[in-house]
Amino acid sequence: MISLNISFLGAGKVASALAAQLAETGHRIELVVSPHEKNGKSLAEKCGAVWSEQPDFPETTQLIITAIPDSLLENVLKGISCSREVIVAHTAGSFGLEVFPGKLLRTGVFYPLQTFSVNRRIDFDGLPFIIEASDEQVNKVLSDLATSIGAKIISVSSQQKISLHAAAVFMCNFSNYMLTAGKEVSDSAGIPFGIFHPLIRETMAKAIESGPEHSQTGPAIRKDKITIDRHLELLSSTPELKKLYSEVTASIMNYYKKT
Ligand SMILES: NC(=O)c1ccc[n+]([C@@H]2O[C@H](COP(=O)([O-])OP(=O)(O)OC[C@H]3O[C@@H](n4cnc5c(N)ncnc54)[C@H](OP(=O)(O)O)[C@@H]3O)[C@@H](O)[C@H]2O)c1
Repeated sequence: MISLNISFLGAGKVASALAAQLAETGHRIELVVSPHEKNGKSLAEKCGAVWSEQPDFPETTQLIITAIPDSLLENVLKGISCSREVIVAHTAGSFGLEVFPGKLLRTGVFYPLQTFSVNRRIDFDGLPFIIEASDEQVNKVLSDLATSIGAKIISVSSQQKISLHAAAVFMCNFSNYMLTAGKEVSDSAGIPFGIFHPLIRETMAKAIESGPEHSQTGPAIRKDKITIDRHLELLSSTPELKKLYSEVTASIMNYYKKT
């Protein structure tokens, strides 16, 4: 396996998980660039790198991975200066290669299809990575890098990639928000979240095994109006949750009317 010299822009959730995994697999993390010293230094120390506020990359860096908020990506990429040989790759699911300025010649997307949070260890074995590259050589470097950490490379077109990202938002972010809403309702009744764990596990396991569209249960698919009305009455004191319940219920009813 070829070991790469890698620098990071960003020291947040994705940078922390990726840098640690890459360092563990034998790649050298050289520089971590981020605005806040505490976060940057902490990540740099964990993976044997140095932290800097400034994007002055060592000449030995072969790959720069940016893992920064999407809204900053275009401007931060414009500010990168590095030699023509260096590959610059971003980790955003919602952008392709079009976000790179023309002055960067060797560019790529290195997007892991996973949710990352601080202090949660992610298993990279078999983790899907979506890779896009400016040319075949860059594609090979990024593909070899993904393979070196155990990841599985998924080929998608640029058009499919935005659909993949939108789907991930529904499946991960929206599901998690539904759990948050449910937890708010149970918290306010003094019911511990822990008793729902088997329900949550079975919901996710069944969706994976049988397909989510074949797994729906509950008052909306049964068209149980009396139960729905009792829930809406209970939620009257929390208009946001009442609206959410009402809209999702209507959406489920409409979906199963069509199928
Ligand atoms: N989180 C996920 O589950 C996930 C999954 C797949 C892909 N992604 C993508 O990965 C990217 C990063 O997401 P994230 O969740 O890791 O974000 P994050 O946890 O919010 O971290 C963002 C990092 O960017 C740093 N930063 C801000 N401005 C900067 C600048 N001008 N130069 C250098 N660093 C800067 C921040 O520095 P400080 O620490 O100093 O504030 C922070 O360390 C996004 O494009 C996101 O779409 C995220």
